[in-house]
Amino acid sequence: MALTIATPTANFSCFSASNETLFSSSPFQPLKFPRFWPWQKVKMGPLTVSPMGFGTWAWGNQLLWGYQQSMDCELQQTFNLAVENGINLFDTADSYGTGRLNGQSEKLLGKFIREFQGQKGARDDIVIATKFAAYPWRLTPGQFVKACKSSLDRMQIEQIGIGQLHWSTANYAPLQESALWDGLVAMYEKGLVRGVGVSNYGPKQLVKIHDYLKARGVPLCSAQVQFSLLSIGEDQMEIKDICNSLGIRLIAYSPLGLGMLTGKYTTSNLPRGPRGLLFSQIIPGLEPLLRSIRQIAQKRQKTIPQVAINWCICKDTIPIPGVKTVKQAEENLGALGWRLTSDELLQLEYAARESPRKMIQNIFQTR
Ligand SMILES: NC(=O)c1ccc[n+]([C@@H]2O[C@H](COP(=O)([O-])OP(=O)(O)OC[C@H]3O[C@@H](n4cnc5c(N)ncnc54)[C@H](OP(=O)(O)O)[C@@H]3O)[C@@H](O)[C@H]2O)c1
Repeated sequence: MALTIATPTANFSCFSASNETLFSSSPFQPLKFPRFWPWQKVKMGPLTVSPMGFGTWAWGNQLLWGYQQSMDCELQQTFNLAVENGINLFDTADSYGTGRLNGQSEKLLGKFIREFQGQKGARDDIVIATKFAAYPWRLTPGQFVKACKSSLDRMQIEQIGIGQLHWSTANYAPLQESALWDGLVAMYEKGLVRGVGVSNYGPKQLVKIHDYLKARGVPLCSAQVQFSLLSIGEDQMEIKDICNSLGIRLIAYSPLGLGMLTGKYTTSNLPRGPRGLLFSQIIPGLEPLLRSIRQIAQKRQKTIPQVAINWCICKDTIPIPGVKTVKQAEENLGALGWRLTSDELLQLEYAARESPRKMIQNIFQTR
């Protein structure tokens, strides 16, 4: 069991969205296929996860994602729909949530898990992958253990699936790095996390931390980086190769390029806030790539986001698209259960290379 609820409190404020895909128990309803078969689940260290997870950065973030507390009911339905359809991986972070809403993403996830009304087995199977920020004041392993306990408190669960370092300090505070690594070891040894992972680690740092953890008897389960048709550089490919050779799962974050790979934004229809500013720089050169995705989507009777996410799955990564609505979750679930052909992958990658502007890299991404 990946998750233990510490204090189950039933407060059924939102109803679960109907499950359209799991096998029906009624003899009068047609059997429906699951989104993916049990053998298509993916091993991640000691855990087994769905081939796609969902990201929850937006859940509590007003500045970038326009979060309002009035969205919580729909977020809960979104969560329920995901779990009912076999999604068991949810990515969050202790720094998610802006201002007084800091920690909101973890709090909401914990609440949604407690109030989940579907199959208990599905609830017990949920894997929370949270990330611990490398704040400058987190200088000892003990501070990471404390941070981990605070996340457990916010979610009201007893154990985290994957405890990840949100970023490396190698670029600006290399001496802090060993405290981060020892922090992961301490969390693991205390049984607070089932596995450990990293985020925004480049190829060199990834090998270093892998070897360090291995020597301490701690398996590195996952590495998450920005990975999408808008973000496939040499580094990403090198990281992917290292992950493959060391048995680390690559988690693809921002698989929809923060929303640009959904096709819904144009230069005359930009999202509000900082995203709009970023998109206005990139979207003008995006048409060849979007045209190629659209073409394949039409041919395969899929949608643009489904093709973009499926591409990540075909590249052996676990994409974690961010979702804010039931409609988005439903659509993104349609990225499962089929695969792009090798010709389609080549066509998409060719179009991606031709795009004049790519996503900017995360400032914390190391070499
Ligand atoms: N480790 C890190 O440093 C790091 C960094 C970034 C993200 N992440 C993780 O990765 C997750 C995913 O990345 P992301 O949220 O940055 O970006 P993303 O997955 O590329 O884009 C998500 C956004 O696209 C829009 N969207 C999603 N599905 C859609 C659909 N079917 N149709 C139309 N619009 C859709 C939604 O925003 P709108 O409706 O507002 O357009 C949604 O919030 C995050 O939630 C987080 O958990 C980690």
